[in-house]
Amino acid sequence: MKYNILGQADLRVSQLGFGCGSIGGLLVRGEYPTMRQAVSRAIELGINYFDTAPLYGNGQSEVNLGAVMRELRADGVIGTKVRLTGKDVNRIGEAITRSVEGSLRRLGRETIDLIQLHNRIGFSWQPEKDPDRIGLPDLDTVIGAFEALRQQGKARFWGITGLGESDALREAVGRGGFQAIQVAYNLLNPSTGTTVPPGFPFQDYGQLIDRAAQQGLGVIAIRILAGGALSGATERHPVASTGVNPIASEQEYSADVGRARRYAFLVEKGVVSNLVEALW
Ligand SMILES: NC(=O)c1ccc[n+]([C@@H]2O[C@H](COP(=O)([O-])OP(=O)(O)OC[C@H]3O[C@@H](n4cnc5c(N)ncnc54)[C@H](OP(=O)(O)O)[C@@H]3O)[C@@H](O)[C@H]2O)c1
Repeated sequence: MKYNILGQADLRVSQLGFGCGSIGGLLVRGEYPTMRQAVSRAIELGINYFDTAPLYGNGQSEVNLGAVMRELRADGVIGTKVRLTGKDVNRIGEAITRSVEGSLRRLGRETIDLIQLHNRIGFSWQPEKDPDRIGLPDLDTVIGAFEALRQQGKARFWGITGLGESDALREAVGRGGFQAIQVAYNLLNPSTGTTVPPGFPFQDYGQLIDRAAQQGLGVIAIRILAGGALSGATERHPVASTGVNPIASEQEYSADVGRARRYAFLVEKGVVSNLVEALW
């Protein structure tokens, strides 16, 4: 396993992380012994970053991850998140503190290594229209709340989710005030990491990864398999999420699978042994 320092977050993390979300679903809906076995094997292989959120199974992912890590006496780097709702618009600091205290309780930890905003980001927050997309001015308040949590010893480093309006995200990254960012990057939409041609059919993130790197931020890639579509298969594991909402690609998961299959020539020509390997 190779390790990196996660940008301005002074955390030494494995290049491959362990996702504890609803898409794969193991830490949310799996059997406890299987979770323990998977986490144990990941640790054995050198994985030390585990990504969870209160939203994953309404706290269940954090509860399960905390229990498995305690049982294994493992001391990995844990990233979790905060998702603000429209009701939090005038009490952001309070909502963040409450959410982080809940995460600490469920994980059974005294401090969160990396706390991340789970909301998408735009120029302004219109709770009645799009409660999930918070605005840049609100992001300043979020950053202030994360900083206060650091002073209280409840969080060590913090970051954002790089989803939302491309220009607002680029501005947020330029302004800084956080140490890491989660960014969608895959073969269907690689625009966070490369220029895309005119007429590119999906959201152009304008090389957000490069911009983040210039600012010294740590980058955590998400959706690298387009939620599983890049495996080229439509079948889902019994504990996996059945309804996958594509991020920054087609409207439907099945359409993403169709697009992924266009890369089948890489397998046919022997360049890679399967589509997932094509990522590397
Ligand atoms: N900040 C955010 O808003 C955000 C958004 C999305 C994801 N995330 C994080 O990223 C993690 C990963 O989720 P994702 O949405 O980015 O999904 P992804 O990595 O793009 O895809 C994961 C899915 O691919 C499937 N898959 C099929 N073949 C595979 C293979 N050969 N190797 C590995 N997986 C294979 C997995 O199934 P099996 O599990 O059955 O192998 C799983 O259902 C989440 O758990 C979460 O921690 C964060």
